[in-house]
Amino acid sequence: ILLFGVIGLIGCGTSTTSQPSEKTDQGQAADQNAEQTTAEDKTYVVVTNAEFPPFEMTLPSGEIVGFDIDLMNAIAEASGIKIKIQHTGWEAMLKAVENGNADIGASGITIRDDRKEMYDFTDPYFEATQLILLPEGSNISSAKDLEGKNVGFQSGTTGETAAQNIFGKDYKGLKGYADLPTAVNDLFTGRIAAVIGDNAVVAEFVKQNPDKKLQLVKDEAFEKEYYGFIVKKGNQELLSKLQDGLKKIKENGTYQEIYNKYFAE
Ligand code: ARG
Repeated sequence: ILLFGVIGLIGCGTSTTSQPSEKTDQGQAADQNAEQTTAEDKTYVVVTNAEFPPFEMTLPSGEIVGFDIDLMNAIAEASGIKIKIQHTGWEAMLKAVENGNADIGASGITIRDDRKEMYDFTDPYFEATQLILLPEGSNISSAKDLEGKNVGFQSGTTGETAAQNIFGKDYKGLKGYADLPTAVNDLFTGRIAAVIGDNAVVAEFVKQNPDKKLQLVKDEAFEKEYYGFIVKKGNQELLSKLQDGLKKIKENGTYQEIYNKYFAE
């Protein structure tokens, strides 16, 4: 707001001066300067649903960390832009990028044709698939074996789509949650029989809860997915900066370093 104010004032000064030729030159120089400063100082707002370990999670201190966060910081550095990370709900995150309240979405977002109508995606940076998370000894070897039971997922995600495809949209046992940890919690209390979610994330829940004796089941119907970062559709300028940064960190080994930090065996 301040910057726009300054630009506005410069504009006014130019148009009300009494020596047109000279003032116009000065005005142009000032305007260019202002624009340059604006571009350099711009801090892009990155929104993320930080309830999706290990891609994005919030520490007790309030700090947002994770694979996507490290990648975004590395990309920003490589492409010379400033960013700040903000936590929102999943659907709020998508909305914020769509309506321009945020610049970038970094949230393990699967590249999908329907989403491409609203967003431009970077190149893929991670391969994923859905998996079923459930207690050991559940005697379930495919999604169909869950017929008649409650199945949880994060609303508005590919986990929801996968569940709908298997059981039908009108299946009574479909339970959508605002975030995945709440779904997993309902699994622990027995409210639902299984959670369908992104493989690396449900694997993280298995790892973090050894006492709960959880297992993962893959269904043949689950397809390969690829994560990309999003910008508002048509924001070619920002997209190419992200693409450039992503390419650089893949080439210079930074991507691999970050990958190993979170996913090395
Ligand atoms: N990959 C899935 C999708 O795009 C789930 C992503 C959820 N991400 C999150 N941070 N909660 O639909």
